[in-house]
Amino acid sequence: MRKQTAMRRKIVAANWKMNGSTELVHDLVGKLRSGLGALDNAAEVVIMPPAVYIGAVQDTLADAQVAVGLQNVARFSSGAYTGEIAASMAADVGCRYALVGHSERRQLFGESDDVVAEKAALVLEEGLTLILCVGETLEERERGDAEKVVCSQVAAGLARVAAGHTESLVIAYEPVWAIGTGQTATTEDAQAMHGAIRRKLEELDFPAEEISLLYGGSVKPDNAAALFSQPDIDGGLVGGASLSADDFLEICRAAGL
Ligand code: PGA
Repeated sequence: MRKQTAMRRKIVAANWKMNGSTELVHDLVGKLRSGLGALDNAAEVVIMPPAVYIGAVQDTLADAQVAVGLQNVARFSSGAYTGEIAASMAADVGCRYALVGHSERRQLFGESDDVVAEKAALVLEEGLTLILCVGETLEERERGDAEKVVCSQVAAGLARVAAGHTESLVIAYEPVWAIGTGQTATTEDAQAMHGAIRRKLEELDFPAEEISLLYGGSVKPDNAAALFSQPDIDGGLVGGASLSADDFLEICRAAGL
């Protein structure tokens, strides 16, 4: 096991995507609150619901040690951008995290590396912890380009970020072909890519050993422990399984090993 500093920590983040309702918030978050209380978990737990439910999630969590985050932020600070939510607003309502560059944003909403870089910089400027998502498509993997694509997304996404901001920087490796498909990267492939990301961070002059790297893409209770025990995998970004209290709690438990 490599040396871990105070900044590098185990994190399990729930990405609800565009799922949920007031009823689900009360039921799911209520169960998580009591389940996590009993867990004495060493990992940091983050819930990222659709933005309109952030207040309800916070109210239901009450004093539970769980952070809340936004799934996406605007690339602008404020103004006439109908429908957008600024990073500063997330910070204002008590969010501690924001996700940037998820493959669904890149693929379905046309977010380029430049847009991702602008958003990443704004998130850090507002004092939020940035989870920068990167990942290759199946075609890119089959071509043998996975590492090249992922490392170039890391470099591009951090292009406007100063190396001094690393305390609030987390990177999530999510192979696009593994998201929502039930197909997980093997622990060996996932570890290899996390190692490559850490080497890239080093090359970019970021203190690579201090940055938490998460794996995402069909993380489930039955594969979480094996993934999280890899030397360069510091936790997970969980989509589908985060909508089940039992599954998510099991995954959090796996991160506390
Ligand atoms: P999944 O999603 O766990 O449903 O594969 C992960 C993600 O997209 O963050």
